[in-house]
Amino acid sequence: MEMESRNLQLIYQEYFAPTLAKATQLLIERGDGPYLYTTSGEKYLDLVQGIAVNALGHCHPAVVDAACKQIQKLIHGSFNLLNYDSALRLAIELRKLTPKSLDMFFFTNTGAESVEGSLKLARYVTGRSGVIAFRGGFHGRTMGAASVTSSNVKFRKHYAPFLPQIYFAPYPYCYRCSFGQTIESCRLECLEYLKEDFHYVIPAEDISAVLFEPVMGEGGYVVPPQKYVRALRSLCEGLGILLIFDEVQTGIGRTGKMFAFEHFDVAPDILCIGKAIGGGFPLAVISSSKDRMMKWESGAHGTTFGGHPVACAAAIAQLEIIGKEGFLMEVSGKGERFRNQLSELKTHYQQMGDVRGIGLMNAVEIVKEDKKPDSERAASIQKYLQEKKILVLTCGPFKNVIRFIPPLNIDSSLLSQVVDRFDEALKSNGV
Ligand SMILES: Cc1ncc(COP(=O)(O)O)c(C=O)c1O
Repeated sequence: MEMESRNLQLIYQEYFAPTLAKATQLLIERGDGPYLYTTSGEKYLDLVQGIAVNALGHCHPAVVDAACKQIQKLIHGSFNLLNYDSALRLAIELRKLTPKSLDMFFFTNTGAESVEGSLKLARYVTGRSGVIAFRGGFHGRTMGAASVTSSNVKFRKHYAPFLPQIYFAPYPYCYRCSFGQTIESCRLECLEYLKEDFHYVIPAEDISAVLFEPVMGEGGYVVPPQKYVRALRSLCEGLGILLIFDEVQTGIGRTGKMFAFEHFDVAPDILCIGKAIGGGFPLAVISSSKDRMMKWESGAHGTTFGGHPVACAAAIAQLEIIGKEGFLMEVSGKGERFRNQLSELKTHYQQMGDVRGIGLMNAVEIVKEDKKPDSERAASIQKYLQEKKILVLTCGPFKNVIRFIPPLNIDSSLLSQVVDRFDEALKSNGV
C-alpha cells in the first residue's frame, strides 16, 4: 500500500500542472463525517472539508442515499434544455429560505460561475458596466471573477487585461483599519472613502453593482461591523446600484444562519451561493428578484451542467437536515464556545493577534510585534497540527490567518481537542 501511495504521488507530479497550491500531499482513500482516511490507514480530523463544501462532513448517509437514488433515475439531461424533478424541487426548498426580494434562481456549477453570472445579470438589467469590489475579496478564477478579486496579487499576475471599470474599495477589516480607527472611534471612514470614488473616479450612474462578501473568506475570515453592511445597503439603494452578496463560502449555515446576510438584517439584490449548497457536488446558484430576473431574456445566459440532477438531489437532502429546527442554533453555540476557548488561549500568546469569526467560520490571525503578519509561524502551526492529524487551512493576503472550517454537525468535544493541540503548537513554536 505504501509503495502504491508513492507511485501515485509520482503520477501526480508527472501529469498534473503544478499550479494547484496543494496544502498537503496526502493520498486520500475515503472520508467519513469529520474524518479523512489516507490509503495507508491514517485518520485525519478534517477542518477544511473540501474548502467549506461538505457542510455535513464527508459522505453523510442522507446525501449519499439521495445522490445514489438520483443516479439510478437520471444523471444528466441539461437543465438548459429540459426540466426534471430534483432541480424544480430544490428551487421550492430554496424559496422557503430566501426573502421575497430573492425569489428567482439560476442554477450553475461553481462559485466563480455564480459571480460571473451575477455580474452579467447586473450589467444586463442596469445597462451600466462599472463594478465596485473590495480589496482583499476573492471571487474565483475565471477572468471575470479574477477581475474582481484582490485577495492576493498572485491571482492576477500575468493575466491582465481584466474587465474594465472595476474599482476596489477598502473592506471594513477592523483589526487592520486603513484609517487608524478603533471600533469605538469608527465613523465608517472606509465607506466614506468608497463614496469619494463617485466624486473623483467614476460617476455612480456608471456603476452596475457593488460586489461584497458579507464575511470575507479567502481574504482573512473578516466579519464586518453590522453598521457598515447596513450603510452599504442604503448607499446602493440611493444610487440605483445593485448590491451583490457573494455568499459562496458563507452560505448554507456556515455562519450559524442559513445566509450570512441575515446577521445584518439586510438582503442583497443579487445573491451568489456555491460550495456547500451541493452537498459535495458541484452546484451554485444566483438568486434575485422576479422583476429583475424576468428582464434576463431567454438565451442571454445558459449552462450545460448547471443545476445537475445529482447535485440538486444531494442539495435537497442536505437542506432538509440543516433546515431542521435548532440545527443552526447549535452551529452558533458550537462556534461561540470554540471562539471563547480560542480567545482564552489568546490571553497567553501574543502571536495570536486576533481571534474572530461567526458561527463555524472561525480564524486566528498570527502576528509578530506591531501586528506584522507572521506567515511562517502560521505555516509551522498548520504543519504541527497536521502532524497531530488535524487538517486546517490558512488564508488572508499574507497567509497568516489559520481558518477552521469543520462540518456543521461536528461534536464540540472535537473542537476542544483542536484548541488543546493549537495550544501545544504555539508552545512548541516558542511564546
Ligand atoms: C467567496 C467566494 N466566492 C467565489 C469563490 C469561487 O468558487 P469556486 O472555486 O467554486 O469557483 C470562492 C472560492 O473559494 C469564494 O470563497
